[in-house]
Amino acid sequence: MSQLPHNPPMKSLFTCNSCGSEHRKWMGQCPDCLAWNSITEESGFTNKTPKSSNIPSLTATAITEVSCEDSPRFSTGIDELNRVLGGGLVPGSAILVGGNPGIGKSTLLLQAASQIAMLLKNSASSERKEVLYITGEESAQQVKLRGQRIDALHPNLLLANSCNLESMLSTIKGSRPSTVIIDSIQTTISDQLTSAAGTVSQVRDCAAALIQQAKQLGHALILVGHVTKDGNLAGPRVLEHMVDAVIYFEGDRGHSHRILRAIKNRYGPAGEIGVFEMRDKGLVGIRDASRLFLAERSADTSGSVVLACLEGTRPLLVEVQALVSPTVYATPKRAAVGLDANRVAMLVAVMERRIGIPLTQHDVYVNVAGGAKITEPAADLAILLAILSAYQDRPLPLQMVVFGEVGLTGEIRPVGNPETRIKEAIHMGFQRVVLPHENFSRVQDLNSGDTLRKNSTSLRSIPIKHLRDAAQKCLERDH
Ligand code: TYD
Ligand code: MG
Repeated sequence: MSQLPHNPPMKSLFTCNSCGSEHRKWMGQCPDCLAWNSITEESGFTNKTPKSSNIPSLTATAITEVSCEDSPRFSTGIDELNRVLGGGLVPGSAILVGGNPGIGKSTLLLQAASQIAMLLKNSASSERKEVLYITGEESAQQVKLRGQRIDALHPNLLLANSCNLESMLSTIKGSRPSTVIIDSIQTTISDQLTSAAGTVSQVRDCAAALIQQAKQLGHALILVGHVTKDGNLAGPRVLEHMVDAVIYFEGDRGHSHRILRAIKNRYGPAGEIGVFEMRDKGLVGIRDASRLFLAERSADTSGSVVLACLEGTRPLLVEVQALVSPTVYATPKRAAVGLDANRVAMLVAVMERRIGIPLTQHDVYVNVAGGAKITEPAADLAILLAILSAYQDRPLPLQMVVFGEVGLTGEIRPVGNPETRIKEAIHMGFQRVVLPHENFSRVQDLNSGDTLRKNSTSLRSIPIKHLRDAAQKCLERDH
């Protein structure tokens, strides 16, 4: 077998734009992530080998002796954004904000930038008062016009228009701002590399330089990242590893609300969400998100059920809708919007086998109203009840909230944090809750005597052990 030379002279490298893997030659399909046409040539690599005498050795410290000052967070002035970040921005941290084009990344960050500038101006504790917004996508005039419209102008908010990494680094060094926003990392180009903007090596190296500088100088760095067609951050996955927090903007153009979700956060809980609504004056944080998602709910229709789900630590009530209609296809369709389609297909199979509902001749469509995306298994019971209600064409009680995971034998499994879900249901004025039996005992044990118990006199709990009981207790009696 022929062997590669030990240290081949590396003139060019072929990198996959989708997964960041590196190859010696061009290929039509990436062997690692199987993406087509994603491999591009990147030249201009220098293989620097450091001289061993120059390498400084490390000093290891006992973990108990490591000094850690409480990292002083500062507020972005936008409550929903602070919540997603775990309480605010940490100096020296790097945050990647991803999302589809036009979803509102630049709008939100401009709003946050002016709020930070305003808050820091009045704060006595911080020496650094300025926020630097570097845009490579729009001109400074465009940003100002938008700023005027959304009331985000502040003298301490500095704008610069550049795509060049080196000039960005020197501007940041010169102005020593508290926060730097780069819109976007895909348009940033380093003079040191010859490859085009947005390629893996450019994105990776530019991000690395900016992050390193942020750690050295101690400012918070926010990078805007584009997403690819399939919703991943464009550029290498390695970008997500390099930053301290990754937050995604979700939502679609058909709806005015947007969800900001922390995918990763080294300074707070991941999975936390913030809910916004896009209005004519920019993005407005929505505290009472359940009200937004349930706003258009119609009374007395079959195939609709309210699910109490949990996004991070935040409870959210959403409407799950189902439609069951006779199929015209050889294989019946199972489609889901806002839910995992495979899970829906599995749940339909559970329903067929375990409680004998014949759906082999029916198409099943399930949707989360309002464009929310639910990934929790706690949605299972709500999905099944919605399908069952649609199949039987019998509406479920209007004032009922449901949560619970369903196993393959049809058993209802407990879910995390039932108390929080129930509190939200009470807050929204619901009168019944259908929940897993095991959660019922926990809710009772844990909350004897506290507010939940007092309030729950008006909320009737319906504990369920098996899907069969759910069908009986919720649908097959007068309510
Ligand atoms: P933008 O922040 O430019 O998106 P991104 O940076 O993620 O690409 O958002 C632009 C969209 O937001 C555009 O479609 C118009 C809409 N919008 C409003 O509805 N109201 C507003 O006040 C602003 C500034 C934008
Ligand atoms: Mg933008």
